[in-house]
Amino acid sequence: MSYRKLKRLIVSGTIKYAAEIEREAVLLGLNVRRKGSELVLDSPIELLDSAKISNQINYAPLDLEVLWTVDSTNSYLMRRLVAPPKGYVVCLAEHQEKGRGRRGRQWVSPFGRNLYISIARVFSQVERGLDGLSLAVGIQLAKTLKQKKVDNLGLKWPNDLLLNNAKLAGILVEIGPMLGPNVCVIVGIGVNLELTKEDSLQIGQPHSDLCGVLECSRNLLAGEIIQNVISGINIFSHYGFSAFAKEWDEYNLYHDKKVLIHIAGSVVTGIDAGVDELGNLLLSTETGIKSFNSGEISLRGEF
Ligand code: BTN
Repeated sequence: MSYRKLKRLIVSGTIKYAAEIEREAVLLGLNVRRKGSELVLDSPIELLDSAKISNQINYAPLDLEVLWTVDSTNSYLMRRLVAPPKGYVVCLAEHQEKGRGRRGRQWVSPFGRNLYISIARVFSQVERGLDGLSLAVGIQLAKTLKQKKVDNLGLKWPNDLLLNNAKLAGILVEIGPMLGPNVCVIVGIGVNLELTKEDSLQIGQPHSDLCGVLECSRNLLAGEIIQNVISGINIFSHYGFSAFAKEWDEYNLYHDKKVLIHIAGSVVTGIDAGVDELGNLLLSTETGIKSFNSGEISLRGEF
């Protein structure tokens, strides 16, 4: 792929027409058209810039990298981390060829319009349980957007951020390689900033984006999200999920509502009674309170 020419098209908005560049641009989902001898980009794109993003982050040591395209930012960090990193290692990409969601789903990852971020760090105390980490990250993500005056946000256990009851962002926490006695944890975050009709067709659930809701630089938003998520991971590593339990109740969309839990081919119904100090879901059922960890289960609301 001729990145140099594509980059020139994105930065200047126009380039001398070449069928090959047009094909590559279309493949990436760019909105281009031929105008005489020129190829024109109709919707401008703010490319990610590692310096602008790092400027928003007050944490050292930080190793932050921006990629043009990758299979998945989580997979990339998983491959890259062969020795214990100092501090945080962060990777963002303009485009993911095989963006991954929870439970083997794909994460639709068109070029230059959304945010795909992975953050890795070493944990030494895995025994305390990492299940609550994705909930803590969801809370930090929700708080970042709330600070920017985005309303109607809520969390769906364990790790979906919803806007107007439709999925805006997802979190995929994965355990990376064992590095000596420690384990490397990778937190992947996908945020929909602008989805096209074509993207929507590929997403198999109600979804939303920030288009028309938040006017904000991609670089600024990415930096703020990373800063807040890193602060949250630091708190989590000291105090565990209990430090976030109260805030979970504030953002939990299903609190005190009837929900269905799909687990290993069967369905359990009950009232969402919040979470315990590890982030496990508590369900009030006819036979008492049942607790679920996030493993391979999914929750549906019954409004
Ligand atoms: C989900 O809701 O199912 C989780 C979605 C997580 C998507 C992000 S995008 C950055 C990182 N790289 C991936 O391949 N997945 C995560």
